[in-house]
Amino acid sequence: MAILKIARMGHPVLSAPAHPVEDPEAPAIRALVADMIETMDDADGTGLAAPQVHVPLRVVVFFVDPERDAREGGDGEGVALTVLINPEIELLGDETKVDWEGCLSVPQMMGEVERHTHIRYRATGLDGKPIERDAHGFHARVVQHECDHLDGILYPSRIGGQGRFGFSDEIVRAISEEKAQAAYDAAGEDSETENQEDA
Ligand code: NI
Repeated sequence: MAILKIARMGHPVLSAPAHPVEDPEAPAIRALVADMIETMDDADGTGLAAPQVHVPLRVVVFFVDPERDAREGGDGEGVALTVLINPEIELLGDETKVDWEGCLSVPQMMGEVERHTHIRYRATGLDGKPIERDAHGFHARVVQHECDHLDGILYPSRIGGQGRFGFSDEIVRAISEEKAQAAYDAAGEDSETENQEDA
């Protein structure tokens, strides 16, 4: 096992479509996945696609933390560490949501991306057996983000005209200031209402 170097935005491996894996049970794929999991854990990521470690193959690893799942529209159960080989996504319905994303290949930044809220995905597991799952909320977002990597797409190219994008620490500060201002404004309205009642 080894921690691999993560490619950053601008490296050509991140903008090229990845190749299908011919034998998901091959020892080389098992070794690649082990290294990807170690690399993802070391970088504190929630998902990683093989092109991000300079391997142009259709392999993704991810998990969903239960707390984050609950916070971002899921059922709070989370998803155990999952390996997807040659995944395919089917979009279910038209509902979409804009929410924040980050990426280990775009370090220290975050942006608002519109994603489908409900998807079905199919893939092959490391054991060669088929995987088919319905996903919604953060789970669906993670899988769409990771599968985009296999098509050479990074999330900044999906940020729409209204979407914010910037350094994570600046955005976190801006959001907390917006929240504080909103709370201040709400408190101001309350006191005005009280004043009116007093009068
Ligand atoms: Ni990413």
